[in-house]
Amino acid sequence: MRIPEIEIPVVQIPVPGTVKLFMKREDLIHPEISGNKFWKLFYNISQYQPQHRENPLLITFGGAYSNHIAAVSALGRLAGIPALGIIRGEELEYRWFHNPTLQYAHENEMKFRFVTRAEYRDKETLTLLLQEQFPEALIIPEGGTNEAAVQGVQHMLNEQTKRFDYLCTAVGTGGTVAGLAKFAAAGQRVIGYKTVADQSLERKVQSLAGTDRFELIDATFGGYGKISDEIIRFINDFDEEYGILMDPVYTGKMMAIIFKQIESGYFPDGSSVLAFHTGGLQGIEGANELLRKQKRQEIKVVKS
Ligand SMILES: Cc1ncc(COP(=O)(O)O)c(C=O)c1O
Repeated sequence: MRIPEIEIPVVQIPVPGTVKLFMKREDLIHPEISGNKFWKLFYNISQYQPQHRENPLLITFGGAYSNHIAAVSALGRLAGIPALGIIRGEELEYRWFHNPTLQYAHENEMKFRFVTRAEYRDKETLTLLLQEQFPEALIIPEGGTNEAAVQGVQHMLNEQTKRFDYLCTAVGTGGTVAGLAKFAAAGQRVIGYKTVADQSLERKVQSLAGTDRFELIDATFGGYGKISDEIIRFINDFDEEYGILMDPVYTGKMMAIIFKQIESGYFPDGSSVLAFHTGGLQGIEGANELLRKQKRQEIKVVKS
């Protein structure tokens, strides 16, 4: 992987009042390894050096709709390294081919191992077993979050991002917000919007970032991966108004909360807020399939 030469656009999202809201379109960094996934994987893969290994292998973990599984499968294909996905939910073994994310990963030649939810939760044991079985593999944690990922996130920041008072990102496993907190310029406030109700996130982010100069705010909207009608409406309205499509699990939920915060005066008058669009649009297809089954409104995707 190379640092792309494209300049990632920072676009203003016009909102009423004196707060200035901007979005950095990190989702445009790569067509398949989108948004923060690109940067979280960047140093993981460059430190691995597959050319010096007899049996290189990428192993990672994720749920059925995981953006990270999709990204690692694409990375494996592009880097010419076999990939193994440890997938939560043994029931998927017989119906993974109905799931667009896993279908895509399969097309990238990722192999799967389906595990029960209890096995998946005990990742320490799982990782030890995998290390024993595949001693040359690069085992990337769930969501890609580790110290190498945090290092990679510094590339989401540049001279231009220094002029904003607030840096905002959605939070799943915490690596992205940890990287922003670690590498933000002096005086910038970093806010993470939690899409997972995980009490241990604060401590985890603090330990990865080596600082507590961040705050985490709830953006779960009924639970991780749960998609409320409010969020679907918000995403569809946002796309219609600003021409930017967001995923319903991360960036969509973060932006919905940022809009509420702006309305309620959370940000001081005249302050500037930069929200990162962290990608994950591949998940929309799977989300829409579920919504269709439930006979609910879908996320509108305008194909260009
Ligand atoms: C689209 C998207 N945004 C945000 C996040 C949250 O990032 P992190 O897991 O580093 O907190 C993820 C998960 O990787 C994601 O897929």
